[in-house]
Amino acid sequence: MCGIVGYIGDKKAQPILLNSLGKLEYRGYDSCGIAIANNDIEVFKDLVRVKALTESLKPHDGKAGIGHTRWATHGEPSKINAHPHTDCKGKIAVVHNGTINNFLQLREMLAAEGHNIVSETDTEVIPHLIEKYYDGDFEKAVTRAVKDIDGAYTMIAMMAGEHKLIAARQESPLIIGVGDRENFLASDVPALLDYTSRVIYLEDGDIAVVTASDVKITHDGVPIEREEQKISWNIEDAQKGGYEHFMLKEIHEQPKVIRDTLTDFLSNSKPVVELAGVEGSTLENMIIIGCGTSYHAGLVGKYVIEELLDIPVRVEMADEFNYSGQASPGTQAIVITQSGETRDALKAIQRLKAKGCRVIAITNVIGSTVTRVADRVIYMRAGPEISVAASKTFTAELISLYWLALPYARVDTARLDKLVRDIRQLPVKVQQVLDNEDKIAAFAKKLAKFDNVFYIGKGVNYPVALEGALKIKEISYIHAEGYAAGELKHGPFSLLGEKTPVVAVVTRDATYEAIVTSIKEIKARRSPVFAFVGEDDDSTGDLADYVFKIPGVDPFLSPIVNSVALQLLAYFTAKERGCPIDFPRNLAKSVTVE
Ligand code: F6R
Repeated sequence: MCGIVGYIGDKKAQPILLNSLGKLEYRGYDSCGIAIANNDIEVFKDLVRVKALTESLKPHDGKAGIGHTRWATHGEPSKINAHPHTDCKGKIAVVHNGTINNFLQLREMLAAEGHNIVSETDTEVIPHLIEKYYDGDFEKAVTRAVKDIDGAYTMIAMMAGEHKLIAARQESPLIIGVGDRENFLASDVPALLDYTSRVIYLEDGDIAVVTASDVKITHDGVPIEREEQKISWNIEDAQKGGYEHFMLKEIHEQPKVIRDTLTDFLSNSKPVVELAGVEGSTLENMIIIGCGTSYHAGLVGKYVIEELLDIPVRVEMADEFNYSGQASPGTQAIVITQSGETRDALKAIQRLKAKGCRVIAITNVIGSTVTRVADRVIYMRAGPEISVAASKTFTAELISLYWLALPYARVDTARLDKLVRDIRQLPVKVQQVLDNEDKIAAFAKKLAKFDNVFYIGKGVNYPVALEGALKIKEISYIHAEGYAAGELKHGPFSLLGEKTPVVAVVTRDATYEAIVTSIKEIKARRSPVFAFVGEDDDSTGDLADYVFKIPGVDPFLSPIVNSVALQLLAYFTAKERGCPIDFPRNLAKSVTVE
């Protein structure tokens, strides 16, 4: 995690670095800092967010600098652990994103050689290593230093008197923004959108020497050209656009996201076998892997693909799969990662490929690491998601999975036609949920008073309950657990009562009678019930305390409309509790560490 930025050009670096850093706070916001070079290097850092640092600084004239916003891994959030870190003489400054596995050995070695290391971070060894190897050639010293480092060390270094930034990418993203008499570096595109749409994505192992007028990239010491690309996202996509929070804006963007993602598939709709590059073979089984919200999308995919394709589908959390997961050669694997940078998901791809699986990645970020390591890539069209809690990308992931499954559906044509018709209707149905958000906001006022809540669903809506619980715990800090409705009686019933509400997702499919029975059992234990039911469901309303009617869609597609309603419930509950919705404590959007 962490966001890093760099600027070198003919403008003052300070406002550019701070503005860009602010756009990367979704990657971590425990502390932040910048280093600016004139003849010397000056470091300004503190245990604050970017806005507070900006307000505390006097204007600086330097035209080159680096910056960092931190998600702590080694050492607690504190001023001393904040980046940039420097060498003994304060001549070399470094910002770093990733984790260094052998930092303890390096630290001991450097300390024995007389280097004074002051923070608890792994990062601080980097400027000291560069100092150790510096014999008058900055570039050579950085190149030599990274050879000693084992781990993820995407970083930017600068040195007093050198009019250049040197960046190395290893296992975390780094993008060069190309300007006119100026160049930029950043962990992610939103940091660059105010300045340029021309970007170069660095690859693992690349070292880039960036000056105001030039970018020189080497790989294993050999000069290499990396293609310049044009970013299609615009500045408005990465701004709040009048909404109080990014999350509310992103929830409201979902009708458009569904339309955009579908349009893309309709224009280049290819069946899954073709996408996977395995024409002619039959699909016999599938494994889907993801983390957090993307894992939940995978679970919905399992219900859909198993029923439509009549093949077994396994869904695994990436981190668990990485230690013990098995997969047979030839198995079709789908790895879902909206950011395309999640370390656990990338590691899962390595394991899947080592086992001979073909990997399709579903991602939202063009040029992200996953797009380089998967066999095939499916892009969802959600646009930048800034709020740490995922909303519109979950929906786009589901649309991508439906679209993967539909060409292979072993169902009769009439059912298939209806599904395709209904999927096209989804933007309208989602809009109806959004139009009724006031009602959900009123429920949220009640829910906000509780400390614990269960979410239940069944069948294809069981993962929706998991995702609803994840969303509310993430942003409102209410302890929430998602359960398959029928499982609640196997233990958790002991927690039911007036102080433990249950949010129930009820759909008119084969699970309907069973979940209604569950609600009756829950009500008998006096838990307040918030029910999200189909618009044609007039009976569940009599059982539940609060009822929200969900516009009618095919039950298979109901996870999308139900999830939008639960996202709004989480959002308004968090708002009621006065939580920092877009940036919940301890979290970061892009989890690039294990
Ligand atoms: C929750 C959330 C996380 C992510 C998870 C995977 O709201 O956003 O659970 O879903 O960290 O991220 P990606 O999809 O980028 O791999």
